[in-house]
Amino acid sequence: MGYLKLVPFIFILNLFGPTPTFSDSSSTSNGLSEIPKRFLQYAKNPELFDWMVGIRRKIHENPELGFEEVETSKLIRTELDKMGIPYKYPVAVTGVIGFIGTGRGPFVGIRADMDALSMQEMLEWEHKSRIPGKMHACGHDAHVAMLLGAAKILQEHREELKGTVVLFFQPAEEGGGGAKEMIDAGALENVNAIFGLHVAPNLPVGEVHSRAGPIGAGSGFFEAVISGKGGHAAIPQHSVDPILAASNVIVSLQHLVSREADPLDPQVITVAKFQGGDAFNVIPDSVIIGGTFRAFSKRSFMQLQQRIVEVITGQAAVQRCNATVNFFTQAKIFYPPTINHQGLHDYYLNVAGDMLGSHKVKDLKPVMGSEDFSFYQEVIPGYFFLLGMENETRGRLESLHSPYFQVNEDAFPYGAALHASLAARYLLEFQPEVSFSEVKKHHDEL
Ligand SMILES: *[C@@H]1O[C@H](CO)[C@@H](O)[C@H](O)[C@H]1NC(C)=O
Ligand SMILES: *[C@@H]1O[C@H](CO)[C@@H](O)[C@H](O)[C@H]1NC(C)=O
Ligand SMILES: [Zn+2]
Ligand SMILES: [Zn+2]
Repeated sequence: MGYLKLVPFIFILNLFGPTPTFSDSSSTSNGLSEIPKRFLQYAKNPELFDWMVGIRRKIHENPELGFEEVETSKLIRTELDKMGIPYKYPVAVTGVIGFIGTGRGPFVGIRADMDALSMQEMLEWEHKSRIPGKMHACGHDAHVAMLLGAAKILQEHREELKGTVVLFFQPAEEGGGGAKEMIDAGALENVNAIFGLHVAPNLPVGEVHSRAGPIGAGSGFFEAVISGKGGHAAIPQHSVDPILAASNVIVSLQHLVSREADPLDPQVITVAKFQGGDAFNVIPDSVIIGGTFRAFSKRSFMQLQQRIVEVITGQAAVQRCNATVNFFTQAKIFYPPTINHQGLHDYYLNVAGDMLGSHKVKDLKPVMGSEDFSFYQEVIPGYFFLLGMENETRGRLESLHSPYFQVNEDAFPYGAALHASLAARYLLEFQPEVSFSEVKKHHDEL
């Protein structure tokens, strides 16, 4: 509903062009550098902190899988209603888009994902998942809580906003490509830039890590059916053995990265699934193999995809088997590499540095993991960073997707305040360099 209010401004905004101009962001004399510190102070307020923790624990108890985040989405809308923040719903099934500020440009997005994983939580604690076989093991419950925290900070300071902050609560990050669905639903229209974060269990709390350029790989999934001819295991000459063929296929796939890829261009192929046969003395008719492939550039990614098909069908044929390869069974779509915008990186260094001290803003080594935030970055400038959660005095945290994964809620004020500061200061620093008279002139010409 809030979205409709924005419509009259849209063509005015379009005159500014698709990319904002980067003004000098040295932030000393004009009070910009105070914003991150003020917001962090605000986010550490026990009332706001406890509220974020309460929301996170509630979501943690009731994890929902991609595009099924019905209760999570309802909880978000209830909180936005209480804060008086208008939103658009539904976007991409369960997604919610909130609006804070003037209703005019520039528009800056901040994003949280909402979905859980289909796995059983093994840790016993008061707010353990109540749904068997489902768990928030990637911290998306924390992401929602922190984005709502940011919403609260921004709404309290809405008089200071020189444009509009767009809150993205998106479904289905884990393999469902929820970000792509949001984009297809028009969520990025008029949005000039977008920021996102992910909790990191092995980085210290109070630190953030990121870099310009690629930080996460593009990722795809493949599945192949290798068909032979089943028969008695003691009379192999009457069968065509798909187990042996699949074994050779798997070995040959490993040569793609070791022999065909540039050693300085990181790539991965993993066969993670091998299903076939269930008797000691029967050669099965067919075998199913499946896995994932990763690369940091679209070119390498497409090259891998093509060679996976050639190697599977070719190597199966050597053993007289037929093979079909499907790239869309496990995940519906490929995730592009996560590539951070250089200009936004410089901007983030200033904002995060002003809040945490520049020694707490560290360089990130790229990882082969992938993140559907990359879909936004294919359309507009986007920036993604990791938010530290580790507190050494409390011991190490298990990794993401572990059944023992835990969130350190002490990180919440940092996440909420960073979201809010990156958004609020962006609106101040990236005002379009078009004078009002120019806008009016163009406007009249329409
Ligand atoms: C492979 O496909 C061809 C053509 O469809 C068929 O004639 C042959 O029997 C198949 N072989 C196996 C082992 O399934
Ligand atoms: C780490 O944990 C200890 C013990 O709970 C706490 O006193 C301290 O404030 C924590 N440090 C940070 C940076 O949150
Ligand atoms: Zn995950
Ligand atoms: Zn995640």
